[in-house]
Amino acid sequence: MAKVKTTFFCQSCGSQYAKWQGQCNACKQWNTIVEELIHKPEKSDWKSPTSTSKKHASKPLKINEIDSSQEARLNMQDAEFNRVLGGGMVPGSLTLLGGEPGIGKSTLLLQIALKLNYKTLYVSGEESQKQIKMRAERILPNSDNCYILTETKTQHIFKQIESLEPDIVIVDSIQTLHSDYIESSPGSISQIKECTTELIKFAKETATPVLLIGHITKDGHIAGPKILEHMVDTVLQFEGDRNHVFRILRANKNRFGSTNELGIYEMQGSGLREVSNPSELLISEKDGELSGNAVAATLEGMRPLMIEVQALVSTAVYGTPQRSATGFNAKRLNMLLAVLEKRAGFRLGAKDVFLNITGGITVDDPAIDLAVVASILSSNEDEALPSDYCFAAEVGLSGEIRPVQRVEQRILEAEKLGFSTIFVSKYNKIALKNPAIKVQLISKVEDLVGFLI
Ligand code: TYD
Ligand code: MG
Repeated sequence: MAKVKTTFFCQSCGSQYAKWQGQCNACKQWNTIVEELIHKPEKSDWKSPTSTSKKHASKPLKINEIDSSQEARLNMQDAEFNRVLGGGMVPGSLTLLGGEPGIGKSTLLLQIALKLNYKTLYVSGEESQKQIKMRAERILPNSDNCYILTETKTQHIFKQIESLEPDIVIVDSIQTLHSDYIESSPGSISQIKECTTELIKFAKETATPVLLIGHITKDGHIAGPKILEHMVDTVLQFEGDRNHVFRILRANKNRFGSTNELGIYEMQGSGLREVSNPSELLISEKDGELSGNAVAATLEGMRPLMIEVQALVSTAVYGTPQRSATGFNAKRLNMLLAVLEKRAGFRLGAKDVFLNITGGITVDDPAIDLAVVASILSSNEDEALPSDYCFAAEVGLSGEIRPVQRVEQRILEAEKLGFSTIFVSKYNKIALKNPAIKVQLISKVEDLVGFLI
């Protein structure tokens, strides 16, 4: 029996200390240091079959001489997932998928495992094989390549991997794994670090990609040390409002691609459906034109997204008017109302204003400003805007209409979806030749009032 030893870890950054202290020297956080039992690994767990024969130190090579041809990416059979990864999965890479409980992480990765044309091992420490089978039956009943293992000990997992030799390994979740070489409980910092190190070693030596699910804490960070995010190649975040059907997959870190890409899914009774044209779903179907509705041509990452904004302006019942915004920054709403009051002469001071972005989405793109202003004007006048109008511009404090980035992409998306007119800033440089859509250039909020009312 090896000597049992305790060490102190910072829960925030993973730094290690010989004794307890109140503040972490590395990340300066207070009260984050906890004691954990460990005993040092005598040997590493993952032993690749060829590692003994290939034992030679790495030599420096000229960058031009390095062969990159075998880095062909694996097609994940899921257009949204491939896009977020930057065109498929890189062999030997470690990808961490984080997200709130119940958002659909297990569903997403099981669905991918079922669809893949590669031999896939799905290791679950959270559900039994029967439970996973029940879920799989709802998603995709027939799959020849997917193997399910319920196991939490890394040593046992590696033994199974050695005999099965899968092409892809999925682990649900890193917080349930534990290694024999560390005595602290699963989910503790030293266990997470050790298990991830073992998995990285396995992935790099066999060029097998590994997908890990990671839980997130109350404040939205992946549970465990920050160092976990540094260790892996890609960190994906699965997010969305649980009460709405949309789920957004984005990359927070990607060593092999852009972090601007975005994947959109819809949660259905039979798993997650890829949404290739989100704009069509976000704009509600309606029979007549309704006052207070306006469509914004926004960008989420690199993707154009037409989003519907709804406003309701009514006479305040109580003394102080209420202002509330769902999916939009409430402070920005107040600012836009002040601009309307001062520059366009609207007396909104005694009115309640409610704003809602449909589809349960939160928008940060400033290009939504003009649509917000238009929807408020429309509701205030109780006059519907033509349903084939859309907007893409930022509104400044003096009521000026400011240009937005990638305006051509927004115009093309609006054109594709059959809008007749898009309102953009006069100061945007637009290089498009004869678009079928009318591009209405405006420079001040007052101009918009003239057009709409
Ligand atoms: P799950 O994938 O287990 O979430 P996580 O692993 O992120 O904790 O499940 C997410 C939710 O999705 C669950 O509450 C039920 C729902 N769901 C569906 O609506 N349809 C389905 O086909 C499946 C499998 C789950
Ligand atoms: Mg789960």
